[in-house]
Amino acid sequence: MKTFRIKGRDGRISAVVCRKHALRGGLSAAELKERGALVFTDSNVLALYGSKLKRYLAGIPVHAMPAGEAHKSEETLFSLLRAMAAAGLRRNSVLIVLGGGVPGDVGGLAASLYMRGIDCIQIPTTLLSQVDSSVGGKTAIDFCGIKNLVGAFHQPALVLADPAFFATLPPRELRCGMGEIVKHGALDGEIFDLLEGEENLFDLTFLAGIVPKNIAFKADVVRKDPEERGLRRCLNLGHTTAHAFELTDGKLSHGEYVLLGTFLEAEIARKRTECDEAYLTRLQALCLRALGEIPALPEGKQAARAALFDKKNTRAEEVVLTVPAARGKYEILRMPFESYETALGEALEKLC
Ligand code: GLY
Repeated sequence: MKTFRIKGRDGRISAVVCRKHALRGGLSAAELKERGALVFTDSNVLALYGSKLKRYLAGIPVHAMPAGEAHKSEETLFSLLRAMAAAGLRRNSVLIVLGGGVPGDVGGLAASLYMRGIDCIQIPTTLLSQVDSSVGGKTAIDFCGIKNLVGAFHQPALVLADPAFFATLPPRELRCGMGEIVKHGALDGEIFDLLEGEENLFDLTFLAGIVPKNIAFKADVVRKDPEERGLRRCLNLGHTTAHAFELTDGKLSHGEYVLLGTFLEAEIARKRTECDEAYLTRLQALCLRALGEIPALPEGKQAARAALFDKKNTRAEEVVLTVPAARGKYEILRMPFESYETALGEALEKLC
């Protein structure tokens, strides 16, 4: 068992615990009943783990949202808040969120709003939510057609990351999580070496070993900059281009676009930063290996335009990118729109 602690700006301490049998031994049902609790999950996770919930958290009510990003909405948020009120949750009660990034984000936001903030325990069931979204207190819903437009920072009281959940994940879901793991590898030399040296990136034993290293890395960044005033921006590596294709293409998962975005932004960095070219070539090879096959992408003009609307931009007609530069090093690039559009077109040619 490994534990990492993070203190949010509100003074709230968050413990991230990597442990087996998160449901069976990680929580005290008696204590939760005493405080008042509700389990929030989605329809897919309920189908897989509903009987375990009944066995290990007997007597604690469950509220399930329909699965999928399309339901990361105000309707789901308010339906959950109604369920929390109906369950009689009080100030010292707990919302337990079991699932991937979508229930994690909606549940975290509901916990931050209910009675101005109650404790939330996150039990992330996907690779992506264990290494990234459950750690660090970012919560949100999509609103007015924009991803994560309405949200709050609310550090979970506890995150229980159990590698046993990976056994039920489809290969595509593992690839999705690998996108964020490779991104961490682009920022941390030790994680990069482990990934580069591993033949089968999706081997479950390898994943069980590398997940705590990813959580330790992310927890360290969040501990130093909980609300993304500076350092935490490194975690946006590859994401400007990833989000642009996610918006305009949308056929792949978020993590697959992160792998593509990291590849393309490494190519952009090659010509525009004091970079280590040989390292960038190795990082690009890792991105392609994690992707498996290279998907057909639409030409870059539309995606470049979408990047103009990225939340990270601070000036009109300028695109902000966090790009890899050398082993464990990144740079923030501010590019005029035309330069980014040209650079993206050139980078896409390298992908073919
Ligand atoms: N997923 C990036 C962050 O938590 O800051």
